[in-house]
Amino acid sequence: MAIQPGTALQSAITDLPLLSTALRQHATSAKNTHVYTSPAAFEAFIRGGGNVPLYERVSAELASHYTTETHSLLDIGCGDGHALFPALAATANPQTLQRLTLVEPASALLTSAVARAQAEQPALPVQALNEGLGAFAAKLQPDDRWDLAQASFALQAIPEPERWAGLARLREHVRKLVIVEFDIPDLVRGSDAYVASLAARYERALGEYEGATRDLVAQGFLIPMFLGQLDAQTAATNWEHPASVWREKLENLGWRVTRLEHISDYFWAPAFVLVAEA
Ligand SMILES: C[S@@+](CC[C@H](N)C(=O)[O-])C[C@H]1O[C@@H](n2cnc3c(N)ncnc32)[C@H](O)[C@@H]1O
Repeated sequence: MAIQPGTALQSAITDLPLLSTALRQHATSAKNTHVYTSPAAFEAFIRGGGNVPLYERVSAELASHYTTETHSLLDIGCGDGHALFPALAATANPQTLQRLTLVEPASALLTSAVARAQAEQPALPVQALNEGLGAFAAKLQPDDRWDLAQASFALQAIPEPERWAGLARLREHVRKLVIVEFDIPDLVRGSDAYVASLAARYERALGEYEGATRDLVAQGFLIPMFLGQLDAQTAATNWEHPASVWREKLENLGWRVTRLEHISDYFWAPAFVLVAEA
């Protein structure tokens, strides 16, 4: 994509050297090669830069909720367990937990999570459900109960009607809910302020990687993501909100929010934890 002079993007990137360079490289290489989103680039992204302290903090936060009363745990959208397993390893009450339920619609990720559970928590009974929150919530029986449900960066991936209906249903089956999401700025998609904010955030992300890793992460992940977020035609694959909106929506569903706090700075937006009682 050639950047047109005089556009909001052109003025937004004027003082952002890393993003300007990465966009130029992308415009040149995209004509000749197929350097699009690659698993290697995503791996390098997620295992480096600000993701490392972010996930350390998220796992520590989750672990702090595994108390002597947490006998059953439900992880909604667990992915490969990147947040969950370090949290389980760090809990101060390793003997208390008696069962773990994983809800994850992406089969490959669920398979990885189950393998990791077998390797790291061999004594813990695991129920692995290859489905999304909506299908899971629709099948809940009156006696289904968990002491704690957690979801880290997963509820944003669920379309709103499915998400809110699922969380409403879950309230009868879960004592406590812990969610971690990003407290995104309240900007209108496509506005000049949005473009400027997006550009500044991606400049910061690029600065968290160096050398060949920066090029890989930029060309294979961050720049395709950035351009997708600028393009009005790209269909949304996640639905985020400022933290205050999460609180309001959950309270409207009857959840009692007992804590809402930023826990980690991050290029995209600060991560927050929200704790709610049923
Ligand atoms: C950004 S990942 C977070 C994974 C993990 N919780 C973590 O912290 O690393 C978002 C996850 O939400 C899952 N997801 C997508 N749609 C979902 C749905 N309808 N119900 C539950 N999980 C969903 C994705 O498959 C993905 O594993």
